[in-house]
Amino acid sequence: MDCQPIVDKTYKKVLAMENSGNVASYIPELAKVDDTKFGVCLTTQNGEVFTAGDATVKFSIQSIAKVLSLSLVLSKIGDDLWKRMDFEPSGTAFNSLVQLESENGIPRNPLINAGAIVVCDIICELFDNPKKALLDYVREVSGIEDLQYSENIAHSEQQTGYRNFALANFIKSFNNIKNTCDQVTDLYFYLCSIEMTCEQLSYTFGFLANRGKQFNTGKTIVTPNQAKRINAIMQTCGFYDEAGEFAYKVGLPGKSGVGGGMVAILPGSYAIAVWSPKLNKQGNSYRGMKFLQYFTDETQDTVF
Ligand code: DON
Repeated sequence: MDCQPIVDKTYKKVLAMENSGNVASYIPELAKVDDTKFGVCLTTQNGEVFTAGDATVKFSIQSIAKVLSLSLVLSKIGDDLWKRMDFEPSGTAFNSLVQLESENGIPRNPLINAGAIVVCDIICELFDNPKKALLDYVREVSGIEDLQYSENIAHSEQQTGYRNFALANFIKSFNNIKNTCDQVTDLYFYLCSIEMTCEQLSYTFGFLANRGKQFNTGKTIVTPNQAKRINAIMQTCGFYDEAGEFAYKVGLPGKSGVGGGMVAILPGSYAIAVWSPKLNKQGNSYRGMKFLQYFTDETQDTVF
């Protein structure tokens, strides 16, 4: 199917609207981004690629990378993951601490910061060199051989990551972090520092539209059932306290990051990435939300 006309039409429509919201500034390095950037890329199972705007400009994928750390851990330990966290939506902000106290340090899901930090702890348990293992894994899934962490972004977040240090320490007080908090937060900050273009990001997430096998290469990244479950977790938890709105307006599993990126999956068909740095109050890209809403309104092809 030729999606280019709908991509172009939707891109123009959103570009003509007011570019509302604010760039994330609590990570100083992210505040330096050009907030007029706006890119889209849709990659299909059949190898078609449809783009608009700044689709080949690199940006910080931030929390979108939490789906990749989840995939790595699920592929290694399977359902044992659920001894350490749950898979329920939190209905709270991505960096919230409140539920952990009454829920004994068991994070609600792997896509909020608390859950992603425990996932990083498991990666530290599984590998002698966790940073290298994670980077090698993302290189393999994405096919980007020279992918590197962004030292600038990781260090910038390390300087101001008070909430993430608090989360790690709080969870450790319940014995649900096994390594030192410094080891775990270090890996977490590096995970969030990964940069990709919309083109690279939409290809990387192709395996979730293809029952766990990567587009083109056919490489198994996760099992078909694990792909189903990761999509379900993205649908219910990928947008934090805006997950309901994303399901209602877009109708696809997806994940956002405070760098202004967003991915969404139509299982059996495509993965799409959108990037626009200005964020709404919930920390999700303002234009990204609009684009995906109007896009699926046009295609009338969603999981619902
Ligand atoms: O931990 C943080 O605050 C950031 N590294 C990631 C947050 C994020 O991307 C939330 N997503 N919308």
